[in-house]
Amino acid sequence: MRKPIIAGNWKMNKTIGEALELVNSLKELVADVTDVEIVVAPPFTALQAVGEAIKGTNIKLAAQDMFWEESGAYTGEISPLMLKDVGCQYVIIGHSERRGYFGETNETVNRKVKAAHKHGLKPIMCVGEKLEERESGVTKEVVKDHVVNGLKGLSEEEMLNTVIAYEPVWAIGTGRTATPQQAQEVHQFIRELLGEIFSKEVAEQVRIQYGGSIKPENIAGLMAQPDIDGGLVGGASLKADSFAKIVKFGRSR
Ligand code: 13P
Repeated sequence: MRKPIIAGNWKMNKTIGEALELVNSLKELVADVTDVEIVVAPPFTALQAVGEAIKGTNIKLAAQDMFWEESGAYTGEISPLMLKDVGCQYVIIGHSERRGYFGETNETVNRKVKAAHKHGLKPIMCVGEKLEERESGVTKEVVKDHVVNGLKGLSEEEMLNTVIAYEPVWAIGTGRTATPQQAQEVHQFIRELLGEIFSKEVAEQVRIQYGGSIKPENIAGLMAQPDIDGGLVGGASLKADSFAKIVKFGRSR
């Protein structure tokens, strides 16, 4: 009942030409996929070109971040209106790299999540603990803090149009994936939290992606878990064949 959602976060990679090469190969490889929602998040500079290239296909467009204001004197920022204008349906908010390198906090994440909804963009809100937090046994406290404060003030309708990405920071770009059991434990915890904050019905419908060193070899085991509804893929989304294999995780290869 929850349609899997697999998104490629290209991070700060790909010129326009490279982005087009990637997405043009990808769209052919995944053209027959109907059972998975496919999303790509190119850098801002390639959004328009990629958006044009995927028109009429089964691939949707996401941005990697945005500011919450509609317009104004905010040098260097991109607004929700601009993302809508270029054809984005999704926007990643609160990625750990933004929290870690660019001062993103639960408060700014919450403002962005609310601004996304105000403009009809679906946020993919990222949460997850750092290695030292996992090792000191506070994973659930950290994840709860991210979830509760990031989603503050959302209506049930808005929650249903929000995707949560659980990305343990220690698994990002390290080759050290969370085991399906480790991920499932946190995903289940997040769904229980959503049940408390919203309702059981809402919690059952919200999609929770896992992210962190996903590869064609480990996606099926993760997706087999009852509370894992998709993936947010970094490195392995930069090549059309590996991302297509991940999207097609359910098929024999
Ligand atoms: P990797 O797949 O490269 O570990 O990155 C995960 C991620 O941060 C996706 O947003």
